[in-house]
Amino acid sequence: MNFDYVKKIDLPKILDERGNLSFFENDNQIPFKISRAYWIYDVPGGEVRGGHAYHSLQEFIIALSGAFDVVLNNGHEERRYTLNRSYFGLYVPKMMWRHMENFSTNSLALIVADQPFSDEEYIRDFSQFSKLQNASSNSF
Ligand code: TYD
Repeated sequence: MNFDYVKKIDLPKILDERGNLSFFENDNQIPFKISRAYWIYDVPGGEVRGGHAYHSLQEFIIALSGAFDVVLNNGHEERRYTLNRSYFGLYVPKMMWRHMENFSTNSLALIVADQPFSDEEYIRDFSQFSKLQNASSNSF
């Protein structure tokens, strides 16, 4: 998948002296219908999560608290996106190898996906990912 499809998405921010509020909705701020939410928390210092790609699943990732880096690789090039505010997130399309690292203490990653959990969606071997990626870009 091309990096052009990766998007930093700014979310609405309702500023209020009682505390700020942000949100996203199906098919509105994010470009898919949410089927699942999961979150990653209590990450020990130095740990890395992820290290896989999905065949067809799309995700939107937010740092609800703290900060961490999402590192994407399309098989040719790697890019790093730092998420450190709860009012923007990163849209990650299908067929992007990704991992998350540099979690700050007490960081909280919220991830919403367009599909329920299925182990069959995962590509866990980077060389297999690269082959699939090359095969799909050669078919255009
Ligand atoms: P996984 O996505 O492999 O996490 P990471 O890539 O960061 O290591 O998920 C870890 C485990 O949690 C794996 O056994 C599958 C399970 N899991 C679910 O049951 N449901 C979910 O929605 C997710 C994301 C994971």
